[in-house]
Amino acid sequence: MTDRGGYGYAAPQCGIIPGMGINDIKEEIDKLTADLKIYQDKYYKEGVSLVSDSEYDRLTDRLIVLEKEHPEFQHPDSPTKRVGSDLTNDFPEVRHTIPVLSLDKAYSDEAVLDFFSRSVQKEGGALTFAAEEKIDGISMVLYYEKGVLKRAVTRGNGEVGNDVTPNIMTIKAVPLSLPEKLDIAVRGEVYLAKADFIRLNEAETDETKKAANPRNLAAGTVRRQKSSEAGRVPLTIFCYEGFWTDKAETPADHLHILSRLKSLGFRINPHLAFFDSSRESAAEKLAAAGLDGEAYAFSDIGAFIRKKSEERSTLPYEIDGLVFKINELDVREKFGYTEHHPRWAIAYKFEAPQAEARLLGITVQVGRTGRITPVAEITATKLGGSTIRRATLHNQEYINELELAVGDTVSISKRGDVIPAVESVIEKNSEGNTTFTLPPDCPCCHTPIVQVGGLQYCPNPECPDQVKGRIAYFASADEMDIESLGPRTVELLYDAGILRSVEDIYTADYASASSLPGIGEKSINILQEGIKASLSRPFTTVLSALGVAEIGKKSAEILVRNGFDMMDKILEAADRDDIAALSAIPGFGELTARRITEAFRSPSLRKTVEGLRKAGVHMDASLDREENSEEQIFAGEVWCITGSFQNFNPRSKALKEIEKRSGRTVSSVTGSTTHLLAGKGGGSKRADAERLGVKIVSEDEFMALIGGGEKKGEEEQPTLF
Ligand code: IVH
Repeated sequence: MTDRGGYGYAAPQCGIIPGMGINDIKEEIDKLTADLKIYQDKYYKEGVSLVSDSEYDRLTDRLIVLEKEHPEFQHPDSPTKRVGSDLTNDFPEVRHTIPVLSLDKAYSDEAVLDFFSRSVQKEGGALTFAAEEKIDGISMVLYYEKGVLKRAVTRGNGEVGNDVTPNIMTIKAVPLSLPEKLDIAVRGEVYLAKADFIRLNEAETDETKKAANPRNLAAGTVRRQKSSEAGRVPLTIFCYEGFWTDKAETPADHLHILSRLKSLGFRINPHLAFFDSSRESAAEKLAAAGLDGEAYAFSDIGAFIRKKSEERSTLPYEIDGLVFKINELDVREKFGYTEHHPRWAIAYKFEAPQAEARLLGITVQVGRTGRITPVAEITATKLGGSTIRRATLHNQEYINELELAVGDTVSISKRGDVIPAVESVIEKNSEGNTTFTLPPDCPCCHTPIVQVGGLQYCPNPECPDQVKGRIAYFASADEMDIESLGPRTVELLYDAGILRSVEDIYTADYASASSLPGIGEKSINILQEGIKASLSRPFTTVLSALGVAEIGKKSAEILVRNGFDMMDKILEAADRDDIAALSAIPGFGELTARRITEAFRSPSLRKTVEGLRKAGVHMDASLDREENSEEQIFAGEVWCITGSFQNFNPRSKALKEIEKRSGRTVSSVTGSTTHLLAGKGGGSKRADAERLGVKIVSEDEFMALIGGGEKKGEEEQPTLF
C-alpha cells in the first residue's frame, strides 16, 4: 500500500474516496485485513492490545465500508465476519464428513478402570489414556479447507447437522483461518462461562426469556437468526479432537493432536490429565508433546475423579463429567466405533448435586388453567449455590412413585442444575405418616378435582386462584405488558373485590384501591396509564394473552396469517364448530382445532372477549397495521444507547421503545450505527459517535420523538410494591 500516513486520511463513513484506484482499494483491504488479524490474535490469544479499542473499531469500520463496496476483495476469513450480520440465517442441513458420535458412559471409578483394563486386554499391550473435562456445552465441528474456516456444523444426528457458520464466526476463539493451508475437521464444545451467563440473565428483564442454564443460553445463541445478535453473547470454545483429511498429517497420538491444534491457534482446555503405568512416564509424555497437564498412574483414577468432582463447582464453566480417551491413534483406528460411540473413549458422568432435606409439608397450587400442582415445602437447604425451600412434585403419580409422606427425609437435586426436584426418600418419617394424597376438592374453591390423563384439574373456571392467574397472565410483560399489575397486586385487588375478571381490568374502580395497604395515588396513576397503553397492543398479543391453552404467541400469529385476523372470525368458527377450517392451518392438528373451538364457546371466555371489545382492546389485526404504520418512525435506523435515563429504568426499556418502532438496536457504535441515544454519564460511545458522525440524541429529544408525553421527574419510579 502506498504510504499515506496510516488510515487517517478518510473518515470511515465516507466510503471510497473518488479517484482511488481499484488497486489501491484492494491493497487497503488486504492491509486492513492483515493488520486487524494480528491485533485480534494478539488480543484473544495473548491478552495484548496493540492498538486502542477505538482505533481498532475505526479500522474495522473502514474495512466494513470497503468490503461492502467491493465484496470481490473481501477475504473469506475477514475479521469483519466477527461482527456478524443482520441477514436471517437459515441453518441448512449438511452431511458430516467425519464420524460425529456420542460417548459411552460410566458412573463409577470401577467402570472407568474396567474400560482401561478391557482396552489394554483387547490391545494385548500397554496403552496410555488422556482425561479431559466434559464441557457442558454445544458440540460443534469446524471444517477448514486449505486453512480457511468453511463450515461450522452442529452435531445433529451424528450424520447430518445444521450449518451455523455465521454465528460461530462471531466467536473470537474460533480461528477463521489457520497459519497453514490445511484440510482439517476439528471437534469442540461451544460454551458460555458461568459468570457471563449470570450477567446476561440478570440483564434480561423479560422473565420468560431468561435461560435455565449456560448451556441453554449457548444453544439458543448458536441458533440465533441474526449473527449480529449471536455476536453479543460472549460464547467461547474448547477444541478436543482433530481429523486431518490427509492421514499422513495426522499426529501419532492424542497428546500430539492437542499440541498441534494449539499451535494452529485453537483454544485447548489446559485442565488436561494423562494416565500411564507410572506418574513419571506420564509426565514425560506430556512434556514430550509440549503440553502442561497433570500426570497420573492408573492407580490414581479414584482419587482423580474425586478431586475433579470437588473442583467442579469452582470452575468458571460448567462440566458434567470427565472424558477418558485412549491416547494411541493406531489403537483408536483398530478399535473403531459402534453406531453410537467410539470404542476408544468413555465419559464418566458426575451425578447431579444432591442434598438432604426434611419434607415439612405439601402445599397444593392451582394454576390459571386449573392445573393442580403439589409443591414440597422443605427445610431450608443449600444446594449448588442457592437456598431451596420448595420443590415441585409435579402430580399425584410422582408422589406415589416416591411413596412420599410428610416428615420424610428426602434427597433434593437441581434438575438441569436449576429446577429443584425431590429425587428420592432417604428415610421414612417416624410419625407414621403415609403417602400423601391430593385432597379430593380444589384447595381454593372446593370444587371436586377431576383427572385428565394423569394430571389433576380444578374444573371451575370461576375458581379465584384461576381467575387471579388469568388476570396476572394477561397483564404480564410478555402479554399485554401492563405496568404495575403483577401477581401480588392482582391478588390484593381481587381480594378487595375491585378486580374480579380479566375484562374488569378496563372498568375497575381503582380509586377505591388507594385505601389498600401499599397502594398510593401515584401507583394507581401508573397502573391506569399502563392499562391505557395496553389498548394499543396488537390483536395477536390480545389473542395469546387470553391464555387459551392452544394459543401462544406463535400460534396466534399463525392463526392471523391464515385468515383468522379478526376475533369475530374465530368466534364464528367456534360457533359453527368448524374444525375443518382450523385444522387446515399448517401445524394445527384436529385436536388443537377442537380445543380452540371449545375454548371460544365457553361462556366465561366469551364474557371476557366481549368485555375487552367494549373496552377498546384490538379485536382486528387491521387495526394493528394502521397503528403500526404511524409508529414505524425508526425503520431502517440503527440505534445504540449509552448512559442512564430518567424515563427508562432499566435501560432496556429504551431499547424496547426503539424496537417497537422498527428501529434496530446494537450494543456498540460502529459505521452502520445511525443514532446514539445518550443519557447521563456514559463512556466512550459518545466519542465514537462523534468520530463516526453518528447522530447523538438526548433523552429529551428522544421523548419528543416517541411522543413520550409527561416526563418522569428525578425521583425513583414508584411501583405498587
Ligand atoms: S470427545 C469421538 N471430549 O460430550 C469423540 N467430547 O456425550 C467424542 N464433550 O458429543 C467426543 N467435552 O459434545 C469429547 N473433552 C471432550 C468433551 C466432549 C464435551 C461432549 C461432546 C460429545 C458429548 C458426548
